Amino acid sequence: MAMRIIILGFCVFLTTVAVDRNNFKTCEQSSFCRRLRNPKQDGSPYELDLSALQIFDNYVETKLINVQANIDLKFTLTALVGNIFRVTVDESKGVHVRYKPQFALNGEPQVTKLEVLERNQNILSVKSGDNKVILTAKPFKVEFYKNNVLTSIANGKGLFEFEHYRKKKEGENDVDTKEDPGAWEENFKSHHDSKPKGPSAIGLDFTFPGAKRVYGLPEHGDKMALRTTGPGGSDPYRLYNLDVFEYELDSTMAIYGAVPLIHAHGPLNTVGIFWHNAAETWVDITNSKDSNVMSSLVNLVSGSKSESSVDVHFMSESGLMDFFVLMGPKPKDTVKQYSSLTGVSPLPQYFTLAYHQSRWNYNDQDDVTTVNSNFDIHNLPLDVMWLDIEYTDGKKYFTWDPIKFSSPENMINNLTLTGRKLVVIIDPHIKREGGYFLHEDALANDFYVKNKDGTVYEGWCWPGSSSYLDFYDPRTADYYQSLYGVDKFKGTTHDVFIWNDMNEPSVFNGPEITMPKDCIHYGGWEHRDVHNEYALSQTFSTFQGLLNRSPNLRPFILTRGHFAGSQRYSAMWTGDNMALWTHLAASFPMCLSEALGGISFCGADVGGFFNNPDEELLQRWYQAAIWLPFFRAHAHIDTRRREPYLFSETVIDRIRTALRVRYAHLPLWYTLFWEHESTGEPVIRPLFYHYPEDEEVFETDNELLVGDSVLVGLVADAGLTTVQVYLPGGDSARWYDLQDFKLYRGGTHKISVDMDKYLAFYRGGSVIPRKDRPRRSSAVMHHDPFTLYVALDEKKTASGTLYVDDYHSFEYRNAKKYLYVNFSFVGNKLTSSFIDKTDYPTEEWIERVVVLGPPAGIKGAKLNSKSLGIVALEVSYDSELTSLTVRKPGVSIREPFTIELV
Ligand code: GLC
Repeated sequence: MAMRIIILGFCVFLTTVAVDRNNFKTCEQSSFCRRLRNPKQDGSPYELDLSALQIFDNYVETKLINVQANIDLKFTLTALVGNIFRVTVDESKGVHVRYKPQFALNGEPQVTKLEVLERNQNILSVKSGDNKVILTAKPFKVEFYKNNVLTSIANGKGLFEFEHYRKKKEGENDVDTKEDPGAWEENFKSHHDSKPKGPSAIGLDFTFPGAKRVYGLPEHGDKMALRTTGPGGSDPYRLYNLDVFEYELDSTMAIYGAVPLIHAHGPLNTVGIFWHNAAETWVDITNSKDSNVMSSLVNLVSGSKSESSVDVHFMSESGLMDFFVLMGPKPKDTVKQYSSLTGVSPLPQYFTLAYHQSRWNYNDQDDVTTVNSNFDIHNLPLDVMWLDIEYTDGKKYFTWDPIKFSSPENMINNLTLTGRKLVVIIDPHIKREGGYFLHEDALANDFYVKNKDGTVYEGWCWPGSSSYLDFYDPRTADYYQSLYGVDKFKGTTHDVFIWNDMNEPSVFNGPEITMPKDCIHYGGWEHRDVHNEYALSQTFSTFQGLLNRSPNLRPFILTRGHFAGSQRYSAMWTGDNMALWTHLAASFPMCLSEALGGISFCGADVGGFFNNPDEELLQRWYQAAIWLPFFRAHAHIDTRRREPYLFSETVIDRIRTALRVRYAHLPLWYTLFWEHESTGEPVIRPLFYHYPEDEEVFETDNELLVGDSVLVGLVADAGLTTVQVYLPGGDSARWYDLQDFKLYRGGTHKISVDMDKYLAFYRGGSVIPRKDRPRRSSAVMHHDPFTLYVALDEKKTASGTLYVDDYHSFEYRNAKKYLYVNFSFVGNKLTSSFIDKTDYPTEEWIERVVVLGPPAGIKGAKLNSKSLGIVALEVSYDSELTSLTVRKPGVSIREPFTIELV
């Protein structure tokens, strides 16, 4: 949202203030959160009826009975391929159907065999592979075992709640809703929620014995390891896509995205829960280390060693109860299991991984052209220019301002001449203006979200009075997709890509700045049911639109609102951050949480959206942001211009260096995105992902790993001259500073950080492919040669991969036109080989090999390849003997080769 504008007499002042908490509910102000968070004191009324048990090949089904209300629910437990269980609870004879998200899953998950081990009146025990589940009828609970170790318990605390739909009767004994005054209708500020279907909340607790930390639940402006919430402490983590003006850090408040996924992690086991629900959700977390001060004292005195554990309590306002237990046993596994359900980010075009320059706004087409050429004049690499809402004709999307952007094609061609692209913003609110084709089409065809009385819903957003497209209606989705065609969106070309913003959806005059919950979508669903999925429904359509427009070009879409599964269609960014050191620091844990939530393609506005960063902050921001997958500078309309070339030569130099480091590593990023598409492994990773037993790193979020080969640290405070960096892996680990190749072993190191220094280290044991020739854009690097950085481990070995294709089309999928190369260095010999049997007629070749931590006494090298035969190569050590460079192997990466140091 925009800054607040305060009008005093004739003067207009712009002020920035912290988040206005009054605009957003606390758990106490939300009826269902109040009801579920403070459970009934008289014990849980729910019992499984195992006499009704039915056993099938892949699942079991039985009755779950609310004995107080005398209501039968249908309970199922299904075994899924890849060490996953799915549990659903639905109403058997509900007054209304319960909503199940429509966009999150990447197809129906594949089932696998489930075997019954034991069965009696109170217990059913089943197994699938090395996973076992024990259902207990009374007290109702579900225990999950990996290799006979209990790793999670559903309803261990008895907080299961399922408010069945029913008609309100006068004087009804409100057994399920505990007579909460907001159960049947609710007010917040001036807004009334009519709740036509009445209360329908669901809740369940999970206990994770042996877990030390839980991660996940993006998006919050918070640390990566989730804090203990709870009565007396902070509010539960809230998942409700909201446009929060100047969002807070260290906060469990909801912001733009909601991924209801957690990973509970301990040194021995990791287990995940994916809570498949798109309604407003709150999640309480209790880390035993924080809560059990008393029991720790008891243990200390009694000498008993109680295991650590974490409790998590999910509470959602409506929808089916449907959750997946990801059985791990390591973080790698839970992340991949989750990807197998909700999909991965498809390999993006190469340019999307390069540098993006945005601001709200570039004023007109000349401004765009000038900024573009200034990047060239100052030798600053750039791939994408962005246009914010002001490019449109009066905030009417799919149009251009006729004066400021009178010839968009020329402007775009000017960009594409230098290999660059354009991204334009398209929000989901539509200006209600007579004569605007989109509004008229939407009215005529009934494409808008409705009020509860069936009239078109009208809210307030950038254009003023607006209505909101209902992407749940397949007719709306089809129509919307067609708008992206170059024949429809006049002035655009195949080099234009899309930014979907304000899609939480943001409604300036709505309750909590969003759409009222009793609005109605296609299929009769209330907005309450689908809210967190709305942004995903838009990006789904945009993605299809771009595919239809340019069938052999990989789409690029940036979204702000997001949900589980958004990764299949879009990148995301962390929204309207601030030009503050704390926001620079938050960009790492926020993107790491997204990566653990399946959304690897994440970044934060470089420099901070609100306010003006000073030069030190701006430089540090660039030095850090080159290590996040999505790399875009963006700023609010009221900030000073801050394109990098506007600063002093020294500052420009440093930013140029940072940009060049990013561009040099594009082959690594691209390879990681390919590997993400094929394996589900995240592109950036928290340290515990690769060092799951090292408790030192369980709360590390000022460092991250790019793949498994580069460790990056933050310098996120003013005037720092040294920073402590923890390098994992113990004494035998080797890490090489990227700037001077200085060797470090695992452990904590105090590193001097003058303004030229950024913290990045290659892991000994890895081969990192780079393109080191400085260029103006990534497009002109496609044919450039590679330099391989071979960082040796203590056994003097290393390995790594490289993926190449045409960098833009789908031929890598359709025609297997790609190369996936493995490099391995053993016994002083570097060997390349192909992982997949594919081919791509690339012109790329190897220009140089740089060995870090090289063996002593090497005099030369011998290349051996089919087309070149055996060729003697020159080598040289640097003056400190920390690296050895093999010059000009000149071999194509299209053929296997060896290079032996002799
Ligand atoms: C939202 C976006 C921001 C954009 C602005 C105007 O605040 O988060 O990035 O500049 O809208 O479109």
